[in-house]
Amino acid sequence: MNSGTSLLAGHSFALVGDQKELGTLEQINITGQAFTTAMRATTTRQPTTEWNLQLKAQTSANIKAGDVVFTHFWIRGVESMTGESFTSFEFELGPPDFNKISELRLGAGHDWRECSIPFKASADIPAGAAAICFRLGFDRQTIDIGGVEMVNFGTRVKLEDLPRTRDTYPGREADAAWRKQALDRIEKIRKADLLVTVTDASGKPIPNAAVHILQKRHAFRFGSCVTVDLLLEDSPDAEKYRHTFESLFNEAVFENDMKWPEVANGIPPRLDLALQWLLDRKIQVRGHNLIWPGRRLLPTSIVALGNNPQALRDAAASHITTEVSHFRGKLIQWDVVNEPYANHYLMDLLGRDVMIDWYKLARQADPSAKLFLNDYGIIDGGGLDIKHQDSFYNTIQYLKDSSAPIDGIGIQSHFGGILTDPARVLQIFDRYSTLGLPIESTELSINSDDRELQGDYMRDYMTAAFSHPNVHGIMLWGFWEKRHWRPQSALFATNWEMRPIGKAWIDLVRKQWWTDATVNTNADGQAQTRGFLGDYEITATAGGKTKIATVTLDSPGDKVKVVIE
Ligand code: XIL
Repeated sequence: MNSGTSLLAGHSFALVGDQKELGTLEQINITGQAFTTAMRATTTRQPTTEWNLQLKAQTSANIKAGDVVFTHFWIRGVESMTGESFTSFEFELGPPDFNKISELRLGAGHDWRECSIPFKASADIPAGAAAICFRLGFDRQTIDIGGVEMVNFGTRVKLEDLPRTRDTYPGREADAAWRKQALDRIEKIRKADLLVTVTDASGKPIPNAAVHILQKRHAFRFGSCVTVDLLLEDSPDAEKYRHTFESLFNEAVFENDMKWPEVANGIPPRLDLALQWLLDRKIQVRGHNLIWPGRRLLPTSIVALGNNPQALRDAAASHITTEVSHFRGKLIQWDVVNEPYANHYLMDLLGRDVMIDWYKLARQADPSAKLFLNDYGIIDGGGLDIKHQDSFYNTIQYLKDSSAPIDGIGIQSHFGGILTDPARVLQIFDRYSTLGLPIESTELSINSDDRELQGDYMRDYMTAAFSHPNVHGIMLWGFWEKRHWRPQSALFATNWEMRPIGKAWIDLVRKQWWTDATVNTNADGQAQTRGFLGDYEITATAGGKTKIATVTLDSPGDKVKVVIE
C-alpha cells in the first residue's frame, strides 16, 4: 500500500475478552496468496456476548480529524456448523465506552474473502487510543484472518476512491415478508377515514366543490434531540437548525441540558427559554433524564457523598423533586432512570428498591408526565444482547410489581455496524409489549458512512417501528452533523447538504405518511379520503368562495361539515 502510514507497525493481535478462555489462536502459513501467514482463531464454545472473545491490537500511530484510514484483510471460514464463519470488525476507542469509529459484520465460507474498510476520522485519535478488534463471540467455529493492514492515508486519498466491502442486513430486499405486513398494518392502524360534507348556509349539499385535505401535523411523534445553544444562538447555522427542526419534527428532547450535572447548581434560565421556544411551537417535549446512575455520569458533588448513603439518597430525592416540579405540566414524559443495566452505581450503594422511590417522587412532582425507563442494547447490535434485553425486561417487571408508577418503555435505538433485521426489531417490540406499557424509540441513530445502506435502514427501521401498534414515537438523537454525538448518523452534513438518510426520513414523514389530497364532492356534497392520523386543514371551494375548517383525525375516523355561505 503506497504513501500511507501503517497504524499497526510492530503491534500484534492478542486474544482478549471476559471469556477469552473460550478461544484459541495460532499462526498458520499460507501459500498462493498475497500474504504468507494468517491468524487461525477458534471459538470452542459460544461466549455470552460477541465481544467477550476477540482479537485486539492497539494503533501505533496518530490519526488526525479528516484523515482517511483504510483497513484491508482477508478472511476464510475453516469450520463451523453452517459452513460460514463470522467476525465483526470494530475500530473502537478505549474504556469505559468503547465508542465505535468503524464497524462491519463479516461472514465467509471456505474461500478467501477480501475485505476493505475505509473511513474518515471525525476527531483526532492519538496512537494507542484506539484498537482494531475482530470479535469472535459466535457459535463454535474456526476462522482464518490474514494480511491485516491498517493504513492512514491522511488527506492524500479520497474516501470515495477506496474500495469498500458492502455491508447489508437481512430483510433489506424489496419483497421481504416483514415489509409487506408492516405496510398493511400502517394502512390499518395509522390512518382513518375522513368524510367532509360541504353545504350552503341553508344546509343544502354542494356538489362538485373542491376540497383540499391537507395534513398539518402527525399524531405519531416524530422527533429529535436538540441543544439549548442552537435553539437560542444568533447565527446563520442556528437559524437553519431551528428552521429545519420546525419543518421536520413535532417532538423534542434536550440532548444534555436537562441531565443532573447540568442542573445541579440550579436550572439555567436559558434552558427555560429554549423550552419555551419549543412549547410556543406546540412541540411535545420529553424530559431526559433524571437519574443516570453511573459513577462518572453523576455530578461530582454527588459522587463525593459516596460514603454517606443517607446523604446520597436525600440528594437524589431532592434533585428529582426540584427538577420535575420546575417543569411541571410542560413535559410529556420523563426518563426517570437511564441505562440501569450498565450504570448501577447508585443502586449498588442504596439498594435496587431506591428506583421505586424515584418513580414515586417524580409522579408526585408532576402527575401529568409519563414516566419511562430508558435503555440501549435492546434492538441495536443485531438484537443479540439477550442478557441486556432480559435485564431490561425484568427491571420493568420489577418496577411494575413494586407499584412504581412506570408508564412507558424507552428503547434507545443507537445502531452501529450491525443493523438488526426489521423482523427481529418487530419481534423485540412484541416482547416488551407484553409488559403492557407503550414503547417509544427514544434515541435513533444509524452510525454508518455507507450512505446507501444508512438510507435504506432508516426507511426500514422507521417502517417497522411505525407499523407496530405499541410504538408511539420515533426520536432521532440529532439531525445535524456539526451537533451530533455520532456525526456520521446525521440527516444533514455540516454544510446542511441532505444525506440519503435525511431524504429517507423526509420521504416517509412528509411524503409517504403525509396526507395532501384534493377531492371533489359528490352529488350529496361529500368528499371522502383516508388520511394519516393527525391535525388537518380542510379548504372547500365552490362558486368562487372558500371556507377553511380544521380537524384532528383520530381512529376510527371523523366527519367534518364545511358550510360555504
Ligand atoms: C450523549 C450525548 O449525545 C453526548 O453529547 C454526551 O456527551 C453524552 O451523552 N444514551 C443516552 C444519552 O441516554 O443521554 C446519551 O447522550 C447517548 C446514549
